[in-house]
Amino acid sequence: MRKKIIAANWKMNNTKEDALKLLVDLVNQNYSPELRIIIAPAFTQLAMAAEKTKLTNIEIAAQNISSESKGAYTGEVSAAMIKSEGVRTTILGHSERRALFNETNDTLKLKVRSAISEGLEVIYCFGEELNDRKLGNHFNVVKTQLKTALFNENNESWNKIILAYEPIWAIGTGENASPEQIQEMHMFIRDTISEKYGELIAKNVSILYGGSIKPNNAKDIFSEDDVDGGLIGGASLNIDDFSLIVNCIQIE
Ligand code: PGA
Repeated sequence: MRKKIIAANWKMNNTKEDALKLLVDLVNQNYSPELRIIIAPAFTQLAMAAEKTKLTNIEIAAQNISSESKGAYTGEVSAAMIKSEGVRTTILGHSERRALFNETNDTLKLKVRSAISEGLEVIYCFGEELNDRKLGNHFNVVKTQLKTALFNENNESWNKIILAYEPIWAIGTGENASPEQIQEMHMFIRDTISEKYGELIAKNVSILYGGSIKPNNAKDIFSEDDVDGGLIGGASLNIDDFSLIVNCIQIE
């Protein structure tokens, strides 16, 4: 049975002091242990975050890793490095990485391989631009994002993959996709995985939605059948908003 997950992408926000305060607030919340809560701070805060959450249900993730395993790659951080800080998960393919740092589906295929071969879990982000949706091309775009980056992985890798559908037009814009649009796409994603890997793997993969999730829309989004939680950006920086969102998720 797939788990419900709420992940927080702090992006390039929070000084060390801000991060520490939020982490202390988070560990004091008593979120349901049935739920996975995964927090992704900046690289510089990973060690501290892993330490502060060590004896709690809160998990820590990186926001990115290098596709290379080691060597002369100034400024890069490898999968093994974050693992050695006690971090077990990384976000990959966030739309800001794709748009601002030229990450392509082909680059992401290498990053996914690098993470999984090091034993890390991946939260793979993908989603169409507004123009793709207007042209009715959104299903094709999403299929290519899945196929190129993930479909050379074997069945076993799927124990290490969480998907996060994030339509670019809904990220940080205040404009979220409707629950119906989200459910339609999540079902398509599950069908696409089922075609390649079979029904069992498709049924067991957690598919999160991300893009302007707020306390006032989270409940409707999370109540869709194929939505297994959310990847929260802006609203994860405020403990009250984040907790309201976490409490919107229904655990069977
Ligand atoms: P947002 O960001 O919640 O601020 O739209 C989501 C994300 O970028 O993952």
